[in-house]
Amino acid sequence: MFSDLITPDESGSDTFLIKPEFKPKSIRSFVIRAGKITAGQKKAFETLWPIYGLSLFKGRIDPHTLFGRNAPLVLEIGFGMGDSLFQMAKQEPEKDFIGIEVHPPGVGRLMNLAHQEKLTNLRVYMADAMDVLEDCIPDESIDRLQLYFPDPWHKKKHNKRRIVQTVFVHKLHPKLKPSGIFHMATDWQPYAEYMLEVMDLAGGFDNIQASSPYSPRPDYRPITKFEKRGEKLGHGVWDLMFKKNNSFVMVRPHNND
Ligand SMILES: C[S@@+](CC[C@H](N)C(=O)[O-])C[C@H]1O[C@@H](n2cnc3c(N)ncnc32)[C@H](O)[C@@H]1O
Repeated sequence: MFSDLITPDESGSDTFLIKPEFKPKSIRSFVIRAGKITAGQKKAFETLWPIYGLSLFKGRIDPHTLFGRNAPLVLEIGFGMGDSLFQMAKQEPEKDFIGIEVHPPGVGRLMNLAHQEKLTNLRVYMADAMDVLEDCIPDESIDRLQLYFPDPWHKKKHNKRRIVQTVFVHKLHPKLKPSGIFHMATDWQPYAEYMLEVMDLAGGFDNIQASSPYSPRPDYRPITKFEKRGEKLGHGVWDLMFKKNNSFVMVRPHNND
């Protein structure tokens, strides 16, 4: 329920605190910012959350029941303010989209945009994507998983907070359909190289490009808000696209009993 995500802010009579859903863990890929929203924004959340919102704590979803049809499914992790995900959902009505983001203002904005356009092919989690992947997304349900401009965590000592790690790739691999696509983009070359290393180590995917590790930006991916900011600063952009193969075997610890 939306009321579980929101509490009155002690410091202001007309403001409320809103927080994303996540389970306790030692390392997170995001910083929790105390999200304050006004009474007006709260009202918008209250009316739109029942239409677009999905809760981590409701467990496994059935995409066919959720959208009332059997359509290709796209999952985007960390959609930021939501503009590019909104654009994609609008321009590909034959596909269904689920976005995951921990930043409440972005979730609110995406729901507002979707509502204005009366989109029926979009749902959102305001939660940690690691938990959503684990608890909510059924195996072999996703056609395309999008991760655009994840926080680069530049400093060496913070690299462990990058979302792209072998454990993350091992979590998402089973969620993709056979031959499903994992599409990443970054404007930080050392992170692009790190992504390549992780994908190589994790296994279970083929780079869709034979001649270069990087892909040209496909037509379906709009330029994102974060990317625009980087462009102004003269940053390059690296798209990486991998197709799931069946060579990945999860090694489980042995039970010696
Ligand atoms: C640098 S921003 C990029 C936003 C957007 N993709 C764009 O290109 O404009 C990275 C986003 O990922 C979100 N994020 C980081 N870790 C996340 C996680 N574990 N689950 C959900 N969202 C996450 C952050 O809140 C942030 O909005």
